[in-house]
Amino acid sequence: MTTTLESVDLVADILRLKKERNAVILAHNYQIKAIQDVADYVGDSLGLSYQAKETNADVIAFCGVHFMAETAKIVNPEKIVVLPDKDAGCSLEESCPGPELEAFLEKHRDKNYYVVAYINCSGHVKALSDVICTSGNAVRIVEHVPADRNILFVPDANLGAWVMEQTGRPMDLWQGACYVHVEFTRDSILKIKEEFPEAPVVAHPECTFAVRLLADEVCSTEKMVQYCRSHPAQSFVIVTESGMLHRLRRELPHKTFIPGPTDRCACADCRFMKMNTLEKLHRCLDTLQPRLEMPAALRQRAEIPLLRMLEWSR
Ligand code: 13P
Ligand code: SF4
Repeated sequence: MTTTLESVDLVADILRLKKERNAVILAHNYQIKAIQDVADYVGDSLGLSYQAKETNADVIAFCGVHFMAETAKIVNPEKIVVLPDKDAGCSLEESCPGPELEAFLEKHRDKNYYVVAYINCSGHVKALSDVICTSGNAVRIVEHVPADRNILFVPDANLGAWVMEQTGRPMDLWQGACYVHVEFTRDSILKIKEEFPEAPVVAHPECTFAVRLLADEVCSTEKMVQYCRSHPAQSFVIVTESGMLHRLRRELPHKTFIPGPTDRCACADCRFMKMNTLEKLHRCLDTLQPRLEMPAALRQRAEIPLLRMLEWSR
């Protein structure tokens, strides 16, 4: 979005509404530039969960996807949680419907699974789980699981496989995937490496094994900032959703960030993350709609594994 008089007015009005409502604006690293720039906090799923839990604001305007806003409501139910677009979903969440997981656990009762759920899932799935993880703490969380338990990791098979590689802990993996990260291929990354041989490749663990093998570092979006800050290189290839490039360029303006390409595009956009606009953010602060609501019993059940995650990742 280019800066026009209209967008300046919109930003000014968002800031006015934010003050009037005593709201905090939380934004994921994949949000568009204009939203990242107006947010109080921009970060990964883990950082956003802590922010949502610890805020003193009355209203949380959550700019991300639905499961992220839902997580904010689960950990801080007294707050009004609004989101710019309630239809902003996630392919990982879709790949593991609650009733399917429930039926699977019933069918495999003999396994007495310890369910570790990646935070990219519905409240229903969280409520069926023992502990939640994000890409930023998944290794640590799995290391905490009692050694005598069989682990079922849902819903991302790629993240799960990476965690198995890191921990040596066998797990049964739900076969879900992020439609954005599986678009990066061995060929597309080999090509960009050839073009920029000096640039370390930094990839998200939702990428496939073939892509992770080519990466110098595999980590969550927040850890990408830390890695690029402390690494002496001047240029980096960033293999994740395109919004991350804005966050990195803002934090580290003297370094160069090259988008990881797919076979079809020069960079990868998540169509769900990109459903949020400045106009929709303005509207949700103005009307306090759409608002996150959850049945109390479901919320309480989903809170247990989320609080366990926050405790284990301190
Ligand atoms: P992070 O937790 O690394 O921000 O990832 C969230 C996500 O949706 C990745 O696709
Ligand atoms: Fe979900 Fe993938 Fe979009 Fe992240 S990038 S929100 S995992 S669809």
